[in-house]
Amino acid sequence: MKTKLALLAVPMVAGLLAVSVPVAAEQANFINNPVPGEHQNVRNLFRLRCGGCHGVNGEGAAHLIPKLAPALKGNPFIINAPAAVIINVIRKGRTGRARLYHDQFPNMPAFGVELVPNADELVQFLKTDLQQ
Ligand code: HEC
Repeated sequence: MKTKLALLAVPMVAGLLAVSVPVAAEQANFINNPVPGEHQNVRNLFRLRCGGCHGVNGEGAAHLIPKLAPALKGNPFIINAPAAVIINVIRKGRTGRARLYHDQFPNMPAFGVELVPNADELVQFLKTDLQQ
């Protein structure tokens, strides 16, 4: 009896994997898809590291399920805060009491130099090109 159940479970798990893997691969592809043009590297870094939650053009994900992150385009904090304050959010993330949007979104993860080597350049991009 136990063996029969186990035999049933294998194709069920395989079926689940078959459904979920292509979806994840498609998303990764979309985010990683390089866009030509000026500041290509930093734009691609944004799409790769930030676009999955904040939207590939910074439009945010408040309209999606799950709601992942606020918009960075048109966001007064991005436009007005000193670069050093924004870099601090990128490096440390936002968890616990630092959270501003705790009722809407999950935590903002921290990004070390291995994931975001050029935080200065990225913030410059957030304040300029992303706002166009
Ligand atoms: C896993 C999803 C996720 C990823 C990936 C992510 N963020 Fe966030 N980010 C969030 C969430 C959620 C918040 C809101 C946290 C809060 O409640 O304050 C946030 C907030 C921010 C804020 C503050 C916005 C504000 O209005 O106060 C900045 C700046 C920011 N993120 C930049 C980035 C950058 C740059 C990247 C890429 C290096 C990035 N984020 C990647 C989820 C993410």
